[in-house]
Amino acid sequence: MIKTQLIAVTVVDKVMTGSSLSHALQQCWQKHASLSNQQKGAIQNFSYGVLRFYGQLTEILTILLKKPPQSQKIYYLLLIGLYQLIYSKTKVYTIINQTVSASRTLTRNKKIQGLVNAVLRNFLRQKDDLLTKAAQKEVGLYSHPQWWIDKLRSQYPEHFPTILHTDNQHPPMTLRVNQRKINVNDYQQLLLAHGMESQLIWHGALSLKQSVNVEKLPGFSEGFVSVQDAGAQLAAPLLKVKQGMHVLDACAAPGGKSTHLLELADISLTILDHDETRLNRVTQNLERLKLQAYKIACGDAANPNSWWDGKPFDRILADVPCSASGVTRRHPDIKWLRRETDLHTLVLKQRSILHALWQILAKNGKLLYVTCSVFMEENTWLIDEFLQHHPDARVEPLPEPEINDGGLLQNNQHDGFFYALLHKQ
Ligand SMILES: C[S@@+](CC[C@H](N)C(=O)[O-])C[C@H]1O[C@@H](n2cnc3c(N)ncnc32)[C@H](O)[C@@H]1O
Repeated sequence: MIKTQLIAVTVVDKVMTGSSLSHALQQCWQKHASLSNQQKGAIQNFSYGVLRFYGQLTEILTILLKKPPQSQKIYYLLLIGLYQLIYSKTKVYTIINQTVSASRTLTRNKKIQGLVNAVLRNFLRQKDDLLTKAAQKEVGLYSHPQWWIDKLRSQYPEHFPTILHTDNQHPPMTLRVNQRKINVNDYQQLLLAHGMESQLIWHGALSLKQSVNVEKLPGFSEGFVSVQDAGAQLAAPLLKVKQGMHVLDACAAPGGKSTHLLELADISLTILDHDETRLNRVTQNLERLKLQAYKIACGDAANPNSWWDGKPFDRILADVPCSASGVTRRHPDIKWLRRETDLHTLVLKQRSILHALWQILAKNGKLLYVTCSVFMEENTWLIDEFLQHHPDARVEPLPEPEINDGGLLQNNQHDGFFYALLHKQ
């Protein structure tokens, strides 16, 4: 029998040694090709769950263990067992039996097998007390690294607990209706006819009451909808693209916002990304939605000489690489992989991309700077500094009532983003 907990142990182990969660899961599906959808679901649930609540679970284990076990895999197995005992509806004796049985595959040492059993049973005996004790430390309470908590507290003294708790929730599955094909109300009815309830967030953004596999979405293969967070759906309309405009999406892959731009108007869109593999996903998305770009290029946005034909752009979307601190619900691995020192490198990259793109924007053109981060270094502070060095740049007010001073904090309806719409004088 395939032990889903054991496979999840290897996934968590890969993440904690530097791999992204999506990459670790991808490798896992390739290695274990015979996994059923149910087994894959369980592995995903364990891996996402442990990474989402890693701070809390490790605090509890620290209290329960005199010293951590020598085997890192046993440690991760214990975290998975604890995660299930706190957050799943599976019967406790099933969880304990399965975890102890999984430990037998990892070690022949009976003492360690006994330790796994004892730790989980001890947890159950003192559950309430342990949950309270773990929450006395901020890392245990919020399940984020301490530097992350401290940064958010200093930047959002009022909102930081809400931001951190939101990060630990399950994200909604949100659709963007392709209004070239079908209007939002009609698509909502179509969903209902297929037994799927949804809620309109804004524009063409429909949040599903329950997540489903994309193949189950009516009209998905015909390009009626794309899966895209409601916050991300605000970006393309802010550029107010019109027919015939010469537009650049400078950090485009996998193409969520590029395809949105093309759905909004018949523009001549150059799609750029420096990652060839990720660009393949843009091509797939364009094909499914039956949309056409003017040009797809692989290159560095900070060095236009290598890919630009010399014609200035009317509109530029710069969805720059960032810490992704606004999308941790979808990628809980980010919390533990990101280092505070990464921010400095990211800001340098963002600054050089923005500076280079500004040079190739037409006079009177507009550039939308976007991050899926809530850290001010990558957002307001970077834009303020840019404005000081570029007297020909003006920030345009953003018409959306949802966006506050460029920022959109994550909540139960959307992820966290930052937008700055810059107008070249
Ligand atoms: C936030 S993601 C873009 C998401 C995309 N706009 C969407 O909506 O689907 C950032 C992208 O920037 C790309 N990137 C990072 N550094 C780059 C650079 N110097 N030049 C071009 N692309 C870059 C990454 O490969 C990544 O695909």
